[in-house]
Amino acid sequence: MINSYIKGISHYVPEKVLTNHDLSKMMDTSDDWIKTRTGIHQRHTVGDTHLGPADLAVAASEKLFSKYSIDKDSIDFVVFATSTPDYFVPGSGSIFQNKLGLKNIGVLDIRQGCSGFTYAITVADKFIKSGSYKNVLVIGAEVQTTQLDFDDEGRGTAVLFGDGAAACLVSATQEDRGILSSHLHADGEYIQELGTEYPSSKYKDIITPEDVKNRKHHIHMNGREVFKHAVRRFPEVILEGLEHNGLKVDDVDLVVPHQANYRITQAVQKQLDVPESKVFSNIHKYGNTTAASIGIALSEALEQNLITKGNIIVLASFGAGWYWGSVIIKW
Ligand code: ACO
Repeated sequence: MINSYIKGISHYVPEKVLTNHDLSKMMDTSDDWIKTRTGIHQRHTVGDTHLGPADLAVAASEKLFSKYSIDKDSIDFVVFATSTPDYFVPGSGSIFQNKLGLKNIGVLDIRQGCSGFTYAITVADKFIKSGSYKNVLVIGAEVQTTQLDFDDEGRGTAVLFGDGAAACLVSATQEDRGILSSHLHADGEYIQELGTEYPSSKYKDIITPEDVKNRKHHIHMNGREVFKHAVRRFPEVILEGLEHNGLKVDDVDLVVPHQANYRITQAVQKQLDVPESKVFSNIHKYGNTTAASIGIALSEALEQNLITKGNIIVLASFGAGWYWGSVIIKW
C-alpha cells in the first residue's frame, strides 16, 4: 500500500510591504476599517519588480530544497496552482519548470482560485497513490497586487489581497501516515459573484480600451455573497472529511484554512466549536494570497512547531468558482 505525505513545505513573499496606512493614502479607506472587517494589517507586493508567480514559486522552491536537503532531480512531477498566471496562455507551470531547471518532467496547471492548493495537493496524492510518481512538487503562487484597482472604486477588493508563494513536496511512503482523503466540490452557479472576467476569449479583441476603462480586467467581488457561502461551505466540507475518516472535531489538532478573511475564519472556528488556537491564522501579515495562502499558513504553522508527527491536520478552502474542498492529513 503506497501512502502520500508532505515531506516538506516552504514559502516566500516579496520583500515590499504595503500597510493599511499606505493604502489609506491611495484610496478612501482606513486601517481601522480594514482591520475590523478583515483582520488584515499588511500585505506583501511585488511592486514594480515585474516578478510573476513563477518567480515567487522558484524562490519558495529553492528555500524548500535547502531547508529539507531535497535533490531537485528527485522531483518527477509538478502541480502549479495560481489564479494570476504570468501569461494568458500557457499556464505558469512550464515557465516555473524552466526557471527552476526541472527539464522535461510533466507539469499540470490548476486554476481553482482560492481552492487551488487543496485541488493541487489532491492531484499529487492521487498520482502518488496510483504509483505514477514518487515525488510531486505542489506550488501555490500568486501575484495579485498588479491586478488590483488601488483607488476609491477598487477599495472593496484592493485591501484584501497580497502576493506570495508556497512550495510543498508530496512524497510516497509505506508508513501509516499522510494524506487520508480529499473532498472537492464546485458550483458554477455563482460565477458572477467573484472573479476577473477579462481578458476573455469570448470577445474578438479579448480586451478593448473600453473594457479597461470600465475596469473589467480588475477582480470584482460581491463580498456579502462570498461571506455567506464561505461560512457555510468551510465547516460543511471539514465535517465531510472528518466523517469520511471516522474522526470527530475533537480529534483535530490543527485546521489550516484558506486565509480569506479573519471574520470568516472566526465564524468557521465558532461553528466547529474548537478553540481559536486550533485554527491557524496569519492573514494579518499577508492578506489573502489565494492559491498560496494554505501553503504559506502550513509552512508557518510548522515553523512555529504547531504540528508534530501523528497530528490530525485539516486543510480547507473556499473561493471563486465556487470551488471548495478539504484535505485530511495524519502528519
Ligand atoms: N474602506 C472603506 N470603506 C469601504 C471599503 C474600504 N476598503 N470597501 C468598501 N467600503 C464601503 C462600501 O463602499 C460601503 O459603503 P456604503 O455603505 O456607503 O455603500 C461600506 O463600506 C460597506 O460595504 P460592504 O461591502 O457592505 O462592507 P461589508 O461590511 O460587507 O465588508 C467585506 C466588506 C470585508 C469584503 C465583507 O463583505 C467580507 O468580509 N466578505 C467576504 C469576502 C472575502 O473575504 N473575500 C476574500 C476573497 S474571496 C475568498 O478568498 C473566498
